[in-house]
Order: sequence, then C-alpha cells, then structure tokens
Amino acid sequence: MTLDRIHARTIGSIPKRRFSRLLLRWFDAHKRDLPWRQNADPYRVWLSEVMLQQTRVTAVVEHYQRFLKRFPTVKRLAAARESSVLAVWSGLGYYRRARMLHAAAKTIVREYAGKFPTTAADLQTLPGIGRYTAAAIASIAFNEPVAVVDGNVERVLQRLREKPIAGEQLWQAAGDLLEENRPGDFNQALMELGATVCLPRQPKCLLCPVFGMCATRGELSRGQKVARQRKRQVQYTLDCRNGSIFLVRRPKSAGLMPGMWELPETATLNGTEPLFTLRHSITVTDYIVGVVPGPAPQTAAGNWVAKPHLSKLPLTGLTRKILRAAKLI
Ligand code: ADE
Repeated sequence: MTLDRIHARTIGSIPKRRFSRLLLRWFDAHKRDLPWRQNADPYRVWLSEVMLQQTRVTAVVEHYQRFLKRFPTVKRLAAARESSVLAVWSGLGYYRRARMLHAAAKTIVREYAGKFPTTAADLQTLPGIGRYTAAAIASIAFNEPVAVVDGNVERVLQRLREKPIAGEQLWQAAGDLLEENRPGDFNQALMELGATVCLPRQPKCLLCPVFGMCATRGELSRGQKVARQRKRQVQYTLDCRNGSIFLVRRPKSAGLMPGMWELPETATLNGTEPLFTLRHSITVTDYIVGVVPGPAPQTAAGNWVAKPHLSKLPLTGLTRKILRAAKLI
C-alpha cells in the first residue's frame, strides 16, 4: 500500500471513514430537537448560528422563535427599523450581533436580490459573517464541504488527537475529518458531541460514539490545554457636550449586566478614526476597543449625564475603563 493510500484512510491516527460513520450514526439517533433543525433555510440557519455565538442553546430557543415570528424572512428583516430589530433582540445581549445581522440582511436584499450567497467565501464578505458563520451556513444550508471550528469542535479535536494543535491547524484537522457527503450534519455532529458528551469538565466518555478512537479518554491534563482567546473588535462613541456624556442603559432584561450604563456601541464599519483604542478581556475574548468621537446615535435608552454624576452610576467595567482613560472620572 502506498503512503498516499494510507494517508487517505487515516487522519493523524483517526480512521476517517469509520470516524464519520460512527459520529453521524450517533448524531442521527441523538441530536437535540432544535427549531433551526426543521429545515435548511439559510436565513434560519444564519439566525441560529449568530444567536448561538455567545448565548446558550436554552436561551436561544425562545428568542429564536420570537425573532422569526417578527421577521420571518431576510426581506422582512432588511425592511425593519434598527430599533425594532434591537428590541426583538433584547435579552440576548451582545447587540452588535443584531446590528450586523440587520446590516447583512440589507446587503443581501440590495446586492443579491434577497437570495443568500451559497458559498462560504461569498458569505464571508457580508457584515458580521466570519469564517465560522460562513462555513456553518454554507455547509448546513448549501451542502458545501467546508469544516467549522467553534469552541466545542476545538475541544473535541484536542482530545481526539495525541498532540495539542491550535489556530489554523484546527481548521485543517476539522477539514481533514469532514464527511463530504453530509458536511452540514457532520459539522453539527461534531459541535453537538462537544456540547452534550465531550464536555469541558467530566466528559461523558461512556456515551461517546468515537471513544475507541480518542487519544485522551477523559479530561485533558493542564499541560495539554491550549488557552483559547478569541479576538474581537468593538467600537464605542464618546459624545461629550456641555460637560455631559451621552450614556445608554442596558435593558433590565439583558442577560449580561442588565440595567448598567455604558457608552453607546457603534458599528466598526463606519470608518471613523478612533480617539484612542484600548484592550479589554472578558473570559475567553480579547476585545480591541475603539473609542470614536460623537455624535452618538440617540436612543430612547440613553441619557446625558453630567461629569460629576458619572461615577455614581452603575457603569459597566469597560465603560469605567474608557472614561478613566479619557480622564473623565
Ligand atoms: N453550536 C452552534 N451551532 C450549532 C449547531 N448547528 N449544532 C450544534 N451545536 C451548535
């Protein structure tokens, strides 16, 4: 047997065919009954993937139904006012996702006559659609054989293999294992395995369909763990007039820091030169924060706050940091 033929059958030491057969059989039998799995409409797939990015499945399910009821198609979403989109998004947090979703819906309607691009490469040109989301939509809705790597897939791959891998190597490893006849199901199966069986702590190895091919079989030891830090760019507007700063209040229903005050977040796409930038880390994400000058978008949740009152308000940690950097508190 030539080396090429041996390589065609095994990825690292994982037998590709057997791996995907066992994984997909498990997925077919055990996948969760989730609303976005009812059909492969790209709009529905996209919405679910964006909502799932920083939010747990249980919280997403209820918001997903509500959002779809209000905006059942990409055209309806594109035609909506941003304030209505944000209102329906309320409770999910990370509102930048909703703004990007809205911006991308407008682009799809304006430039693609309301029909989604069908490849990951084209999808990635849309606002807010990165490598992961593009690959998820292309594989699930359009059967394009492209792999996805999210936190769950990363953990599964790290455990399966003997040696730790990172960054591009993870995408390569996922692509090597991908079952090209059912790429959407394969990708979802790997994510599902990470979410329900191959848990960060105390993985349920006895329930794992690919236990026999796993190099770790249990928790990773400390040395094997590769710190995973996501990088994100965000932008806030610092509008200062007559000794007051414009701040907005997070909704009481927000999942994260409800009722707290912050500078208004604005799209990073608008090209305004920042006054300054700073770094901010929250759990696994490193934010590069751009602070741009006003005028700030005026929203109902906003208020002008006189400088001496700033430090009396419940500010988010990041807002406090920005205001300190600007020597306003
Ligand atoms: N996490 C994010 N998207 C997912 C999907 N489509 N299936 C399983 N887990 C996911």
